[in-house]
Amino acid sequence: MKIYRNCSLLPYNTFGVDGRCSALVEYDTEQELCDIMELVRNGELPLPLMQIGQGSNILFTRDFPGTLLHGRICGIQVLNSSDKEVWVKAGAGVVWDDFVSQCVENGWYGAENLSLIPGLTGSAAVQNIGAYGTEVKDIISSVRCLDIDDGVFKTFDINECGYGYRDSLFKKRRSLTVTSVTFKLSTVKCFNLSYSALQQAVLAQGAHSLSHIRDIVCSIRRSKLPDVSTLGSAGSFFKNPLVERSFFESLKQKWPDIPGFGDASGNGPVKLSAGWLIEKCGWKGKSLGRAGVYQKQALVLVNLSGATGEEIAALSRLVADDVFEKFGVSLSPEVLIL
Ligand code: EPU
Repeated sequence: MKIYRNCSLLPYNTFGVDGRCSALVEYDTEQELCDIMELVRNGELPLPLMQIGQGSNILFTRDFPGTLLHGRICGIQVLNSSDKEVWVKAGAGVVWDDFVSQCVENGWYGAENLSLIPGLTGSAAVQNIGAYGTEVKDIISSVRCLDIDDGVFKTFDINECGYGYRDSLFKKRRSLTVTSVTFKLSTVKCFNLSYSALQQAVLAQGAHSLSHIRDIVCSIRRSKLPDVSTLGSAGSFFKNPLVERSFFESLKQKWPDIPGFGDASGNGPVKLSAGWLIEKCGWKGKSLGRAGVYQKQALVLVNLSGATGEEIAALSRLVADDVFEKFGVSLSPEVLIL
């Protein structure tokens, strides 16, 4: 375990905003996490506590007054297999894309559409990351956590994880600190080509293997989203809003080309594309000081150069206000703003 006092936040957030936390503790095992809890109980580490991975879904607008817990529990292990499936356990500190890469190398199907998403495996399970027609919940079997409120380890079966669109039990109950995730992957060839750009590229290239699919997903992603190592961002800043179908129909009368995604029955709520709404408000490629709206994807806010978290948050408020004024739709951040 390593404890850093008055630590810079710069290496711990993909927006690349500066700031400090009172303490940051790196731990490599479940036992070390328990030891940290002991230090907290003894008053040797300041509260509040917060788990942080690579900080790929967080915006710090001020210094963090407590202790950040940076989990680095590694290891990928096959637990079980059948003739069609394999159960694989990954430490919460495994870099998500390394996990996807291992799945592809081993011929395990299911994670490939989630290639190149920044962050760690534990954060993926908290956030229910999703891209190109797949959400991580589709391949999770169970999630193991330490409940830092009572110091007890608990394993949640997929049905107990409260998964929804970018939502989970672990997002709501922040005392649950994920230590490992078990995935159920297919060993029989099956691709999810429900996202049309992916399907078109696969058909055009005649892609037949897992590694082809991974390469195509990576290239679609690179064409739309900034590389956080050169341009700070946290991917999509807002969630795509869900609205009543009748409200969607009224929007469609005014803006016939507005994209909306509902279930096949034609009933129920409709998911709007926040990127489209933001673009229609004229924000795409625009900036406010050192914070910008990415020119290739309006749902992504970027740190153009040395922006503070508050500058980025101010831009996000302006964007959301404009979308509300024009369309009557409220945007909620996907990013955790602190
Ligand atoms: N669109 C625009 N202008 C834009 C951006 C998007 O008009 O500037 C419209 C287009 O109609 C486009 C549609 O929005 O067809 C959807 O765009 P895209 O496929 O790029 O996806 P998204 O809805 O903007 C979501 C996820 C992404 C994920 C992609 C691909 C959320 C909040 N975001 O974005 O996830 O990669 O789908 O599946 O659901 C993330 O969560 O950080 C993230 C990057």
